[in-house]
Amino acid sequence: MEQYAIRGGNPLVGDVEIAGSKNAVLPILAACAMTDETVYIDNVPDVWDVKTMLDAMQGIGVTVSRANRHKAMLNAQDINNLIVENEAIKKIRASYYLLGALLGRYKMAQVVLPGGCDIGSRAIDQHLKGFRALGAEVVIEHGLIKAKARRLVGSHIYMDGVSVGATINIMMAAALAEGRTIIENAAKEPHVVDVANFLSSMGANIKGAGTDVVRIKGVSRLHGTEYTIIPDQIEAGTFMFAAAITKGDVTVKNVIPKHLESITAKLLEIGCEVKEKDDCIRVVSSKPLMHTQVKTLPYPGFPTDMQPQITAALALAEGTSIVTESIFENRFKYVDELTRMGAGIKVEGNTAIINGVEKYTGASITVPDLRAGAALVIAALAAEGCTMVDDIKYIERGYEDFHIKLRNLGAQIELVETEKDYQKFKLKTG
Ligand code: UD1
Repeated sequence: MEQYAIRGGNPLVGDVEIAGSKNAVLPILAACAMTDETVYIDNVPDVWDVKTMLDAMQGIGVTVSRANRHKAMLNAQDINNLIVENEAIKKIRASYYLLGALLGRYKMAQVVLPGGCDIGSRAIDQHLKGFRALGAEVVIEHGLIKAKARRLVGSHIYMDGVSVGATINIMMAAALAEGRTIIENAAKEPHVVDVANFLSSMGANIKGAGTDVVRIKGVSRLHGTEYTIIPDQIEAGTFMFAAAITKGDVTVKNVIPKHLESITAKLLEIGCEVKEKDDCIRVVSSKPLMHTQVKTLPYPGFPTDMQPQITAALALAEGTSIVTESIFENRFKYVDELTRMGAGIKVEGNTAIINGVEKYTGASITVPDLRAGAALVIAALAAEGCTMVDDIKYIERGYEDFHIKLRNLGAQIELVETEKDYQKFKLKTG
């Protein structure tokens, strides 16, 4: 099994091109099943979750082809199965988007209960509440979520909590329902807006995406379109923190700076310089990092998907920092791994109390989930000596060419398969 071998100590320097947003493309691919016309999607990130979603869609009869690595063409005129239950799709959270998409178009769908990273209980009650409000019968049986409706009819839905997935899923089903739907307390994340823009380009009538009230006027059919996915906010943020932690100078390119404001604000607070241009941001870290406090919140707050990365940086900052996780209850599992590298972090409930240390030291560590994996890698890049990172499959779910992009910025990182390869890497880089 592949692992990353990393020798820390090199500041990351240079430019890095950010891929399309994983969390936008997954629902957008699912939404391609809502029309019988061809849809062309550009800036598709080449990551494991996307491959899994495309495989699942092919499994129900969607034709998928790629003009190049980042351009996909989907045609869903020959869908022949409304039951999505292949093995791989169970592993991704975004499988549930096929429910909203297929229910919208066919008024019936069955999809396996979602998997994804183990970062908390990850309920789906708000998705089901939304589908039921639109008139669907929804049951969970034999590991499948089964939804069907004679007609879908617009409704006024108040979300009990802010959920990205539920907002998008309800928006998709409501786009093809009869009449008007209002989603109150909707999620405002950039990928919610991207999905709304995509659906609108297919002929949907959606207003208010990006605010907490989304209004949808159902249409009878959607048509084909060409669409370019927004840049990945979290991949960009990860490289920005990689610059901070390695005392580097990195420019993230092809980004939307507005989507990165909460991340930029924290980098400034901890003592980095951040310079924005139209579609790139440069982060320079030349002073000792300073402590701060941060609480994860729905957009425009600090993203939960950046929590492990900021924690990894604050563990090397002067003084005591506090990180509070308010979205997922089980998102500090990686702290044990950072502790192996010398971090001084105590977790109490949903809060991490971080006493900054002077340095990390390389160790053998295991990735518990996607974003934690990225955080552990950037910690290893700042560590003294070598680190072996196990279970990198989680990282490959959401980061395209992660180690290659890091290497292009001057990191010493390689994919290795055996202990012997690791020893060779140590000799070569020592
Ligand atoms: C999405 C992202 C994930 C990100 C998260 C928050 C994808 C594929 N994943 O996950 O990377 O960390 O948004 O920005 O886009 N909840 C309920 N009931 C529901 C739905 C959610 O109680 O029906 C709770 C969840 O347990 C969690 C919170 O609401 O505590 C937020 O979840 P949600 O925004 O739905 O996250 P996901 O869509 O799963």
